[in-house]
Amino acid sequence: QEHFLKDYQSPQYEIKSVYLTFYLSPNKTQVINHMVVEAKGGKAPLLLDGDKSLTLVSIKENNQLLLKEDYELNSESLTLFPKSNQFELEIVTEVDPESNTYLEGLYRTNGNYCTQCEAEGFRRITYYMDRPDVLSSFTTKIVADKAESKVLLSNGNLIESGDLPNNQHYAVWEDPYKKPCYLFALVAGNLEVVEDTFVTQENREVALKIYVEARNLDKCEHAMQSLKKSMQWDEERFGLAYDLDVYMIVAVDDFNMGAMENKGLNVFNSKYVLAKPESATDHDFEGIESVIGHEYFHNWTGNRITCRDWFQLTLKEGLTVFRDQEFTADMLSPDVKRIEDVKRLRNNQFPEDAGPMAHPIQPQSYIEMNNFYTMTVYEKGAEVVRLYHTLLGEKGFQQGMKRYIECFDGQAVTIQDFRQAMAEANDVNLNQMHHWYIQPGTPHLKVTKTYNPITKCLALKFSQFLNGKQVHLPLLIPVLFGFMDEEGTALPIKPSISTKNKVTQTEKGMLLKVTQLNDTFEFMGLETEPYLSLLRHFSAPVSLDYKATEEELMVLASHDSDSFVRWESIQKLAMLNLKENVIRFENSEPFLILDSYLNAFKAVLEDNEIDLALKSLAMALPDVIYFSEQYEEVNMDAILASHNFLKKAIAEFFEESLLETYQALEASEKPKYRYHKEDIANRMLKNRCLNYLLQLPKHFDIGVAQYQNHHNMTDVLAALEAMNHLARVERAQCLEDFYQRWQSDNLVIDKWFALQASAQSDQALEDVKKLTKHPDFTYHTPNRLRSLLGVFGRLNFAGFHDKTGEGYQFLAEEVLKVDKLNPQVAARLASLFSQWQRLAEPRKTLMYKAIEHIASAEDLSKDVFEIVSKTLKSH
Ligand code: ARG
Ligand code: ZN
Repeated sequence: QEHFLKDYQSPQYEIKSVYLTFYLSPNKTQVINHMVVEAKGGKAPLLLDGDKSLTLVSIKENNQLLLKEDYELNSESLTLFPKSNQFELEIVTEVDPESNTYLEGLYRTNGNYCTQCEAEGFRRITYYMDRPDVLSSFTTKIVADKAESKVLLSNGNLIESGDLPNNQHYAVWEDPYKKPCYLFALVAGNLEVVEDTFVTQENREVALKIYVEARNLDKCEHAMQSLKKSMQWDEERFGLAYDLDVYMIVAVDDFNMGAMENKGLNVFNSKYVLAKPESATDHDFEGIESVIGHEYFHNWTGNRITCRDWFQLTLKEGLTVFRDQEFTADMLSPDVKRIEDVKRLRNNQFPEDAGPMAHPIQPQSYIEMNNFYTMTVYEKGAEVVRLYHTLLGEKGFQQGMKRYIECFDGQAVTIQDFRQAMAEANDVNLNQMHHWYIQPGTPHLKVTKTYNPITKCLALKFSQFLNGKQVHLPLLIPVLFGFMDEEGTALPIKPSISTKNKVTQTEKGMLLKVTQLNDTFEFMGLETEPYLSLLRHFSAPVSLDYKATEEELMVLASHDSDSFVRWESIQKLAMLNLKENVIRFENSEPFLILDSYLNAFKAVLEDNEIDLALKSLAMALPDVIYFSEQYEEVNMDAILASHNFLKKAIAEFFEESLLETYQALEASEKPKYRYHKEDIANRMLKNRCLNYLLQLPKHFDIGVAQYQNHHNMTDVLAALEAMNHLARVERAQCLEDFYQRWQSDNLVIDKWFALQASAQSDQALEDVKKLTKHPDFTYHTPNRLRSLLGVFGRLNFAGFHDKTGEGYQFLAEEVLKVDKLNPQVAARLASLFSQWQRLAEPRKTLMYKAIEHIASAEDLSKDVFEIVSKTLKSH
């Protein structure tokens, strides 16, 4: 059954308040749901959402027990026919948390109870109007065995607690803010707590509490610091302060996504809470800081102001991702963060936008909402919010935010409401921005330049295409840009009269606004034909098609004032080289290295001024995924051969210099780990050099030595990764040592699985199959599934795309196994097949067969059904 945005109807009933009582028990938890309900208008039937996992015990309307003939019940809903306009309902249900392997609704993880309700999991707890535009006041009473659950938590403030007979106890929590049920949370179990406080700008003291299993108490420090930084930053940059007396975070090992922003009680995947230098990498530390920030920022953008319906998901997610990106940028390096986000978008969102699941950031329909928590809604959504920021500037954007909050606090609203606030606060018309919300696909922006040496005039024509055509609603595309001469000196920008009002000076630099399908801009007084620096800071989520010459790219790579364009230019040179070798592979000609790329690489490597993290990013080759995205038909063999060749060629060519850089950085590394911008950059560059060096087998010892000599996980893992492509005995020994050392730490063992799942060798598939039988492999923990099966399908190009098709068959079987236990995770794995139609034969047909195999299975979940049926339909 498909749901459509156009069918939206506002709710007929209001739930004034809800009092939930939980009698917790592993296999039979009783939930008493007492609601005060009011009809908004006429006498419509009251439809409450439910799920087949619920056992209905009883219903009372105004204390009167209802009989079977008084209501209608099916596997998805309960329909009541209220006798009055205002009434009380008491619905009693039973659920089985222990057997809940979907990890949606109320479930158990390592013996502790927890909930996940977004998007539609509350209906697996009780019958309710499970939709985000029904806001209510929640009170939650939890009754549980003292020995089994010493901690009892829910949203809001603790108002009462005490002992009960039979070794039981209880707690009552009251949330003073109205909220939709997807923000409900309950946690109970034997957890330990790490505590701190934060004083808000209004001088209110907030108790901060992070709950973890006892064995993890030594890994909460960074999460706590991250939370305090988030609170501080949201006050300083957005003027938003926290609104309750307590902020709680709970870390659990079994969690479908990253984390959940439940009011006052966030539940987190332990991956985004737990860290100490020995067991977590710089990347993990950064992930924690940003996800803690993300969930915290949701308190205003998501909780205080929520979504009218799930088609508005990007209203809260795009905005909150934008906020967490800005937070990370302010904490670390804005330029590095921007490049990392662009890489992430290109590797993950662009393929999605070009594949069978392509959807606008505001999807127009869905079968299973959980399938739409996507890179598109989140990351492209954040890019679209960033467009407002680029257009309006920080000040204008903040005025818009202020107005958004003043107008809509306490409400469930739409993306139009957000735009209206931005427009009104700045007195501008932003209507055209809507076109970004309703059209799928990555816009293709083609630039043609015409220079007239006699008039000294330059014309730039921008043409936008969507899904290969020019029949779409034109997008407003802000392009930050600059001109420079052959020496790399910036040239003045003098727009002609007709262009003047389309070009502005902004805090981020010169900005031109493309508003039409074909839009031309004219500039005067240019003595020579300038080099073009376009899309500085990646000012719009488009794929830019401007055919710069190699000379132009070389100048931009070393001289542009914008870090993104410098990085992009060297990546383009690498891409030219990679593509050239694909052609050579297909013609059975020898590979080559382009002088332009070599020179640009050399310039970066020898640049002593550039930030080390930026240097490391510039030295990396374009990722294989982005590389293959450049082709309509993907020849996997050619792509991998070309990529491997260039990597090794760089290592050979720059061996000495890489070794020198490596040794200097290794010698200067501080013995004590710090999560600090400079230290992170040092490690990043050092490990980039190491990775190249280990392309040459003679340097294998350097990797082994680094593995042995370092105690921070960043360096340890980087060493293992650098060794990973060679099936040498030293690699096996290090992996074994690593396993023995970390056997009891789930998050580190995930890394151990991921390392092997990503090893590109002929053995890969066999190894991964064997690992599914390993005693530490489990189908019940999403992190483990992602680290073995997800990494194999996403990153093991050699193994997954094995020419026999066995890699595809294997993953298809695994998807079916996982689907029985956890449809949400199974659907994510199933989406690894989405690119079949672009693969060259024989892989195309082989992958198609694997998807068909999934599709033909009986009892597929809605989640997997939606993915595979849409995937099969794409030709
Ligand atoms: N709102 C959460 C976040 O962005 C994600 C929850 C997604 N859950 C799901 N089952 N789809 O942090
Ligand atoms: Zn979010």
